[in-house]
Amino acid sequence: MLMKRSWCYRIWLLVGMLSLSVLAQENKLTIRADQTGPVISKYIYGHFSEHLGRCCYEGYWVGEDSAIPNVRGIRSDVVEALKDIQCPVIRWPGGCFADEYHWREGIGPRDQRKPMLNTHWGMVVENNHFGTHEFMDLCEQIGCDAYISGNVGSGTVEEMQDWVEYLNFGGDSEMANLRRANGRDEPWKVKFFGVGNENWGCGGNMTAEYYSDLFKRYATYVKDYPGSRVTKVACGPGDVNYNWMDVCMKNIGGRMNAISMHWYVFSGDWGNKGEATRFSEQQWFGVLEKTVEVDGAIKRYKEIMDRYDSRKRIGLFIDEYGTWWNAEPGSTPGFLYQQNTLRDAVVAGVFLNIFNAHADRVRMANIAQTNNVLQAMILTDGPRMMLTPTYHLFRMYNGHHDGRAVAFDLSCAKYEVDGKALDTVSASVSKNAAGEITISLVNLDPKNAVELSCEIEGGRYGQCSGEVLTSNAMNTHNTFERPDAISPTAFKDFKLKENMLSVTLPSKSVVVLTLK
Ligand code: AHR
Repeated sequence: MLMKRSWCYRIWLLVGMLSLSVLAQENKLTIRADQTGPVISKYIYGHFSEHLGRCCYEGYWVGEDSAIPNVRGIRSDVVEALKDIQCPVIRWPGGCFADEYHWREGIGPRDQRKPMLNTHWGMVVENNHFGTHEFMDLCEQIGCDAYISGNVGSGTVEEMQDWVEYLNFGGDSEMANLRRANGRDEPWKVKFFGVGNENWGCGGNMTAEYYSDLFKRYATYVKDYPGSRVTKVACGPGDVNYNWMDVCMKNIGGRMNAISMHWYVFSGDWGNKGEATRFSEQQWFGVLEKTVEVDGAIKRYKEIMDRYDSRKRIGLFIDEYGTWWNAEPGSTPGFLYQQNTLRDAVVAGVFLNIFNAHADRVRMANIAQTNNVLQAMILTDGPRMMLTPTYHLFRMYNGHHDGRAVAFDLSCAKYEVDGKALDTVSASVSKNAAGEITISLVNLDPKNAVELSCEIEGGRYGQCSGEVLTSNAMNTHNTFERPDAISPTAFKDFKLKENMLSVTLPSKSVVVLTLK
């Protein structure tokens, strides 16, 4: 009898503990629809395109005589694809390339342009056929803004001043008239101008103190011409370099409008970053861990910025970020060509949810890079073009552009690998001008679905629709032979009853819901 009792007791205890742990693992999202915060700038959904590998050449520029359908030399399939994701801004021409680019070599009749050596990316000869006019034409065809990176590392102050005058002055001046002679009457009114790139590294190996002094000189001559205002972007830190941020904010905070930061992620280290398509669950977890770490880094950078700029005048532009894998076997060394799988889309979803959460400071982000380089939106092979899972993710997130961040609480189970843990779910919620709510949800766990109950407070919504991006395998990717191996599908696995929305997120998925 005694024995029986102790067994019963033990079973009761076990059941109690199990139900406690189930309770502890309840996944709950409480959305406070009437509590809105800062605008999630559309520029957070920006892009970065460098003269690197086949990003600009072939990715955009095919030349007027190409058999690939083009408008003034710029391929139309890529332009159309970028319109569909409402590409808001492109940063150009680098990257490291920016600090060895001399813009005057990229204007005037193309057959007379002086070639240059691209020393950073494969030592290839750049023919300068894709220059200022071609880039600005690209932006106009897409309908996006331009963010131009100026040369501090190897260029002169005069060269930078002339470029901005060439771009933005509408009156009668040497630079404005040179632009007219090259076929463009009206100034382009470029809004964003970067004063150097990674000047702690490829942009001149400077100290923060030396760079701040140079910034003062160069930025003085980046003028606001009548009718155009330039957001001057200072070169900020890469990865974790709090001292760089502190020195720049202290020395030049009053002179800049924004400061950059760069954050690349991989599953190994800089020497061996891991393969794009062949990886283990440990490597899946590893890159997500590094992605989530950006949240802590942004918080620290914001604290530093707040010390010098409590009114949040200065924007934090994450003007390079994304996955960086070992180059695809058989591709040209130095061209940074990599495939793009469901894992890359999941990483992008987590990144963007985090950037949205910091929209009070993070006012631009530019994923690296648009075509054929690093975490690309688009891969091309001569005339063929293919959209990556990351591209699809960007299209799914369109609803967040310029919406207001909506307050929410999220409690969820942990996704654990080898004793390390991450939150299983990443989320972001915004409200657009029409009052519609966009909810983006990422399930980081590659093996288990998540039951998520969402309570919506402060608003009534009668309709819900959604899309999901997922697949059976972590490494599913599109190829030129199977360009639709992975693409978003309609999402039906939810129930909306009054203010309760219950959702089943498939394993390794991104789900975006719209509430009306
Ligand atoms: O995106 C590739 C390179 O990464 C950029 O040129 C540079 O800014 C960064 O280090």
